[in-house]
Amino acid sequence: MCGIVGFVGRRDAAPILLEGLSKLEYRGYDSAGLAVRDSTGNFEVVKAKGKLKELFDKTDSGKALHGTMGIGHTRWATHGEPSETNAHPHISGMDVKDSDIIGVHNGIIENYMEMKTKLLRKGYKFYSDTDTEVLVKLVDYYYKKYKCPPCEAIAKTMVRVKGSYALAVMFKDHPDEIWAARKDSPMIVGISDNETFIASDVPAILKYTRNVYYVDNMEIACLKEGSAEFFTIDSEPIEKELVEITWDTEAAEKGGYEYFMMKEIHEQPRAILDTLNSVIKDDGDSKKIDFSGIGIPDEDIKNISQIYIAACGSAWHAGMAAQYVIEDLARVPVRVELASEFRYRKPILDKNGLVIIISQSGETADSIAALREAKEKGVKTLAIVNVVGSTIAREADYVLYTLAGPEIAVATTKAYSTQLIAGYLLAIQFAYVRGMIDDEKYAYYISELYALPDKIEKIFETKDKLQWFAAKFVNVHDVFFIGRNLDYAVSLEGSLKMKEISYAHSEAYAAGELKHGTISMIEGGTLVISVLTQPELFDKTISNMSECKTRGAYLAAITAYGHYDIEDTASFVSYVPTADPHFMGSLSVIPLQLLGYYLSLARGLDADKPRNLAKSVTVE
Ligand code: AGP
Repeated sequence: MCGIVGFVGRRDAAPILLEGLSKLEYRGYDSAGLAVRDSTGNFEVVKAKGKLKELFDKTDSGKALHGTMGIGHTRWATHGEPSETNAHPHISGMDVKDSDIIGVHNGIIENYMEMKTKLLRKGYKFYSDTDTEVLVKLVDYYYKKYKCPPCEAIAKTMVRVKGSYALAVMFKDHPDEIWAARKDSPMIVGISDNETFIASDVPAILKYTRNVYYVDNMEIACLKEGSAEFFTIDSEPIEKELVEITWDTEAAEKGGYEYFMMKEIHEQPRAILDTLNSVIKDDGDSKKIDFSGIGIPDEDIKNISQIYIAACGSAWHAGMAAQYVIEDLARVPVRVELASEFRYRKPILDKNGLVIIISQSGETADSIAALREAKEKGVKTLAIVNVVGSTIAREADYVLYTLAGPEIAVATTKAYSTQLIAGYLLAIQFAYVRGMIDDEKYAYYISELYALPDKIEKIFETKDKLQWFAAKFVNVHDVFFIGRNLDYAVSLEGSLKMKEISYAHSEAYAAGELKHGTISMIEGGTLVISVLTQPELFDKTISNMSECKTRGAYLAAITAYGHYDIEDTASFVSYVPTADPHFMGSLSVIPLQLLGYYLSLARGLDADKPRNLAKSVTVE
């Protein structure tokens, strides 16, 4: 996620903006910039790729810029590589001196290409690859076309764009005012004596004030020295309540959650929606998956003979899930491998194959090596990555980005969930292009994907029950996760979550495999957690559970609403909403993430920074 800070008051703005941006660094970013309106009314803009230190150095910690009003931004790239050109602020002209409007933005404008085409036809030129430059130029377009006040120009823009935004803009001919608008991306306005602040998140301004307004969806704000006014999209004034922030800085960075991991578990609905919206276009009559941004031609999709998936850790688990869904829908053979094995196996790859590399960071050494191994063999490669401009993103032939945003906790949750979504999208689109599903089924699957975020929100209502269960097993030593088909793939992820953040030993097993040896380990009190979401395999897994129960195991189960008969077998059941079986993994994994988190908490461990682990394993 990007970070926004704005200031209008009586002190020089630049040092305050830099200080505020430094408090947002935890959100993850790849470049930064700021703009200050100087005493002559001109904008001064400084941007830098890389760490915020670059910006501090370029501006002598802000002392080189003079002006009592300004906006700043830390960018997490979603459209356009990390670069100084793509860094915010963005301007309405082609250079600062001929620009009337300058702005920063956090969020994703889904129809930015459509708007860009419109503006190009109106004579606008573009210097960056970002959706934000389009947004700022669209405000400028309406501002000039209708010769209207800033509020109306912003409102007209809000009506036209689709997506999410926290937008802050300055108009050259409206000195001492910062204008802002919000839809789905958080934004707050802070007030102190003679000073007004705007920010994406509380930590940026806690040093200066604890009195804030929360900007709600579709609201517009006008910040002046020590005051703020709010308007509806119809330019009607709004009275808002000033709220006092009681959090300390650390709690504020985590959005009030105890750990980033819990915050990121709760960000999954938004991350899934952003990922879906990044490739699914709505033409009014229907939604269609548009892979033009990935670059893989339909002809290539039709000719794929075999898919190979190579990844590590949770990304490998997402690949295991993708295997079942792609094979079932698109009827293309899929082989999933650990990247660390793939890279040394001298793999025999079909020349018409497609190697898919899944990686949150895009920098995992084994996954990079697997990618290069595939390219050496002349096989097309597709990367599913979360970081724009990462090594894997740059070296793969095709790239499908997940839009989970920066993931701070070492144990992945939202990135894994968006990797599942990427697998579903490939499965559905490959199936459709290869003629394996018709329009009706295509539309059904897409609608099922869009129903997932709300269903995940529903699962959060069971948190207390899961926390109780985790506390009951705080001293557990061995845990077995079992499932069949997709449930096995999700069991792998549930087991890893528990191991990596609570250090409890656990194993995930294909339920049908237990009797081939491992069941010898089941004894009185052994905890066995079953995942049962695949209707045609439900009874099979129940049988495996019973085999464990007769040997004294304590049985827990994750299953869908309606399967209440499972309580004849399992002592603890966590129910999730129903969805198409292909996509149930996105729901059944949520209780498993929460179980691992709560067990870590019950053991007094740091869920964000587990021992021995790094967020990205950039070495072999
Ligand atoms: C999962 O919680 C771990 N953080 C780890 O298994 C991770 O998924 C793995 O190291 C792969 O990382 P990547 O997705 O960045 O390639």
